[in-house]
Amino acid sequence: MVLPKHIAIIMDGNGRWATRQGLSRSEGHLAGAKTVETVIKECLRHKIPHLSLYAFSTENWNRPQGEVNYLFELFCQFVKSELPLMLEEGIRFSMIGDTKRLPETAQKALAHAIEETKSGKNLELTLAINYSGTQEILHAIRQSAAEILLQNKQKIQTVINENNKSEDIVQYLTSLFDDTHYTEQNLRNHLYLPDLPDPDLIIRTSGELRLSNFYLLQAAYAEFYFTDTLWPDFSAEDFEKALTAYQNRKRRFGKIDEQE
Ligand code: IPE
Ligand code: IPE
Ligand code: MG
Repeated sequence: MVLPKHIAIIMDGNGRWATRQGLSRSEGHLAGAKTVETVIKECLRHKIPHLSLYAFSTENWNRPQGEVNYLFELFCQFVKSELPLMLEEGIRFSMIGDTKRLPETAQKALAHAIEETKSGKNLELTLAINYSGTQEILHAIRQSAAEILLQNKQKIQTVINENNKSEDIVQYLTSLFDDTHYTEQNLRNHLYLPDLPDPDLIIRTSGELRLSNFYLLQAAYAEFYFTDTLWPDFSAEDFEKALTAYQNRKRRFGKIDEQE
């Protein structure tokens, strides 16, 4: 049975879980962090090489300041407490998102974990923090456009020198972005983590049926698995169920089944 090479999880439902238990939202997030360990262990056991976890979206800044602060503290604590496991199990920790806006202490703790675990070979664990799929695509468009212009700067200068008409210059510049010069690969080269393969399976807990700005481009051919289970309750058995569901899917990628 073919297993997904990359599983991406939208870890949702910590707040509702806490409310149902009469606990604070922070306690819900703390309980959610324990589930993270469970899924890491499951991925290691199944030798799944890439796991992405959506931990904080760019839209999550709109939550109360206290909750946001707590989440960043939790991320720091998490990478510190999980470092021995990561080193022991050959996990390479990585991050996706616009990290420059994070509190400095969080940036340092996360960068430390990335550095310490950089030779991990068994599982790449990517935490999406301050992540937005829309922002990632915009970033890739800006960077790839700048790259094309830079690569052609001498020719651009020549065209400018040779032509007085701005229409001709614009036409030349536009041609640099036609489908022979600018391909999907040019764009993909400037995604935040260009070497990370697209997710095969995207799991979302808590019954919500949306991507909430996660991996918009990378989700193009992903299989989706939605469960009503709230993230703190998501167990190894739930993970198995998601894997089984994945294995029963037919991934056609636009083709037709061989026997048809
Ligand atoms: C997911 O749980 C964790 C983050 C978004 C950080 P929520 O905090 O969104 O939980 P609900 O959706 O309010 O239950
Ligand atoms: C999505 O969850 C983001 C993360 C899991 C980090 P939210 O709870 O923020 O999503 P919405 O707002 O319900 O779409
Ligand atoms: Mg939520």
